[in-house]
Amino acid sequence: MTGQDQKRDAPQAPEASQRSSTSFAHPSEAEFAHILDFYGVHWKYEPRSFPLRWEGDLVVEMFTPDFYLPDLDLYVELTTLKQSLVTEKNRKLRHLRELHPDVKVKLLYKRDYHRLLAKYGYGPLAQADVNGFDRVLITAEQLRERVAEMGRQISLDYVGTQPVLVGVLKGVACFMSDLMRQITLPLSVEFMAVSYYGGQEGGVRITKDLDREIRGAHVLMVEDIVDTGMTLNYLLHYLQTRSPASIKVCTLLDKSVRRIAEVPLAYVGFEIPDEFVVGYGLDYMERYRNLPFIAVLRPEAREEGRPPGKAEGELEK
Ligand code: IMP
Repeated sequence: MTGQDQKRDAPQAPEASQRSSTSFAHPSEAEFAHILDFYGVHWKYEPRSFPLRWEGDLVVEMFTPDFYLPDLDLYVELTTLKQSLVTEKNRKLRHLRELHPDVKVKLLYKRDYHRLLAKYGYGPLAQADVNGFDRVLITAEQLRERVAEMGRQISLDYVGTQPVLVGVLKGVACFMSDLMRQITLPLSVEFMAVSYYGGQEGGVRITKDLDREIRGAHVLMVEDIVDTGMTLNYLLHYLQTRSPASIKVCTLLDKSVRRIAEVPLAYVGFEIPDEFVVGYGLDYMERYRNLPFIAVLRPEAREEGRPPGKAEGELEK
């Protein structure tokens, strides 16, 4: 195997807010900016004016869309339900499209914010559960880019071998399915499952074991998140007893500030702060797994979502 164990410089999960330095003409614009920040969508406020009408050399009518979203290459003009304003804006937009057919611009009613973002893969999707979280920590686009990078690196490091990817259900489902499609080597995939039992001792129990032997194989443990490191520590010891040729760990998220058991991480997607996150496979009480991004759960939502009589420790992973 080429390459060495390396914990690559994992990006910090980004925090975006350009709102504080902008003065908006209307409160609904500030609200829209807030929603864009929430989903991690970059924006510029009124960055460009388009001339619409001239008298001689003199520009006598201009149109300045409220926002430009560089990631989507889209201008957005917000509007209210007042019909006279809508008619006027529609006239200007028609004119703009005639003069600049290459410019993408959208007139947006307040109620359409979320629908627009959902269309581009950012927003709450259909009936997905979105009420419990505070903010988006890692967007769908950032996940795509980082997972592709990780897949490229793993493909280089494991060249000439047929690694066995071992994932621990269920949180790893999204990451595993995206990561394996970015690895350009013959490989096989195994899944294990564990559950946690509470009480004074506490501990991990394997509820689903590997389907095949891994003796002599190059094993890559694929994890959604390493928090205290206890689960991984237990599993690494267990897998070592099966005599693989090598074992390395690839985790999407690393909450290193909470580490108790020191576990070697060869590949880390994102270093994240000490907050409870959901989405992209990660759940709280089985909810939120289907969000296409990673979001921070509101602390109150952890209390609200807990079924009566169920302690947080008695859970499947
Ligand atoms: P450990 O503390 O490293 O043993 O992590 C145990 C497991 O707890 C992880 O594999 C996750 O399933 C779960 N977990 C830890 N932190 C989070 C989180 O922020 N969101 C969702 N699940 C988490």
